[in-house]
Amino acid sequence: MWVRLALLLCWLVLGSQGQDRASFRKSNDRSGRCQYSFTVDSPVESSCPSLTGGPEAENLSARLTLLEAVVSRVLGVEVVTDVAKEATDVQETRRLIQDKERLNKQVQELRRLVEELTMETEKLRDRPCPLVQGDPIDGFGVIRGSGSVSTATFQELKAELSELPAPAKVQENIQNSTGCGELISIGEPKTIQKADGITGKYGLWFQDPEATGQPYGPDAVWRINAVGVDVKQLYAYENLEQLRRGLPMKVLVLPESVESTGATVYRGSLYYQRSRSPTLLRFDLGSEKIVARRTLPQAGFHGKHPYSWGGYTDIDLAVDEQGLWAIYSTDKARGAIVLSQLDPKTLEVIRSWETNVRKNKVANAFVICGRLYTVASYSANTTTVNYTFDTASGKSKMLDVPFRNRYRYNSMIDYNHAKKKLYAWDNFHMVTYDVMLGGL
Ligand SMILES: *[C@@H]1O[C@H](CO)[C@@H](O)[C@H](O)[C@H]1NC(C)=O
Ligand SMILES: *[C@@H]1O[C@H](CO)[C@@H](O)[C@H](O)[C@H]1NC(C)=O
Ligand SMILES: *[C@@H]1O[C@H](CO)[C@@H](O)[C@H](O)[C@H]1NC(C)=O
Ligand SMILES: *[C@@H]1O[C@H](CO)[C@@H](O)[C@H](O)[C@H]1NC(C)=O
Repeated sequence: MWVRLALLLCWLVLGSQGQDRASFRKSNDRSGRCQYSFTVDSPVESSCPSLTGGPEAENLSARLTLLEAVVSRVLGVEVVTDVAKEATDVQETRRLIQDKERLNKQVQELRRLVEELTMETEKLRDRPCPLVQGDPIDGFGVIRGSGSVSTATFQELKAELSELPAPAKVQENIQNSTGCGELISIGEPKTIQKADGITGKYGLWFQDPEATGQPYGPDAVWRINAVGVDVKQLYAYENLEQLRRGLPMKVLVLPESVESTGATVYRGSLYYQRSRSPTLLRFDLGSEKIVARRTLPQAGFHGKHPYSWGGYTDIDLAVDEQGLWAIYSTDKARGAIVLSQLDPKTLEVIRSWETNVRKNKVANAFVICGRLYTVASYSANTTTVNYTFDTASGKSKMLDVPFRNRYRYNSMIDYNHAKKKLYAWDNFHMVTYDVMLGGL
């Protein structure tokens, strides 16, 4: 291109002007290309009228522009540019996709963090103020264990380890005629319903495993939203389908308010701990009256021995194949879980067992076939049922049965022996888990 340009210039200048004082020079330009320069004295002008002006200069410049356009078209510069553009477009798209994936991952990580922070905030907000009597939003509290717990835990672990080498348990893994056996596995959580509104963050729900049918049958579903200072409303649903639809058939008003998430339903009665007291109440669902009341001896209450998630979960009532149980702790047991079998009619303690696991170290507990089971975490997506205590032998042992907290804040877990399921309340969600017992 430059050679042709130079020749053209040569022709333009030499063709019209004299040739006596012309000079020619060639040198490399900045990009290393050879450049030809011609210098010719003007025969008429002693100096330039202006540096860029003059019709001739303009003519020259116009023709150069034309020439450049022709040259670039001939060399296909434009085509080349287009192809290159397409190539860079593909690269750009690929880079954008990679960026999007990276950002998506970051968003997910941030979501997880936000969720964790929300839970932390929740826990802090629920911590009761030592000086003020009233409650914040919901009447729950989180009490932390004392600082000297780790040695005690170590002692417990050592004790459990020394108990472990007892392989004779195999026989008990075989399910007997009552359908009883040892817990083998827990299925994935199945979501039945989601509570709306802030009062549904924690709660309770059940079906009566031994319904009387007077007036409520085994399909009836019971539910209490447990957030609030004065929890008294007990919702009755005709069946699971109506619960799913959010259509209660009745709302029963309890004469005395419920403390936290430890209540249960059994043989036509709601059993619960009266708020801010160690008193257990039996509320008959048919007559809608309190038909039995009794203090659970020495039981800690209102934040003295709660589960690890807090929430005044000092006394947790449970039902299994063998009857009604209370899971709690006392000063004498120094925070270790005490399990008592209760008379379902009178609420009297029939027999008690003291375990070697601290109540405020476990997320929740339930009873199956006379065995207590504890869940390690209420907030970990994947955790385990890692401890069991057998009332038949008085022995405890470590377990490793996987358990999922799908919504990361599990505040209630109860076993239903008629359905062979766990009923749980996980962060606004009512969920069930299938359980598999030994031998099945
Ligand atoms: C430039 O000069 C050429 C002759 O060399 C002439 O034909 C043309 O009209 C001129 N153009 C302008 C713009 O002066
Ligand atoms: C077998 O059934 C009896 C009741 O008939 C019950 O007391 C016992 O605990 C059951 N065995 C196991 C291993 O659960
Ligand atoms: C069960 O898990 C909890 C929480 O991780 C832990 O504190 C406890 O020591 C474990 N218990 C056993 C028996 O492994
Ligand atoms: C929770 O655990 C389940 C199964 O263990 C897994 O599929 C899921 O991806 C986990 N979710 C999160 C958010 O970690």
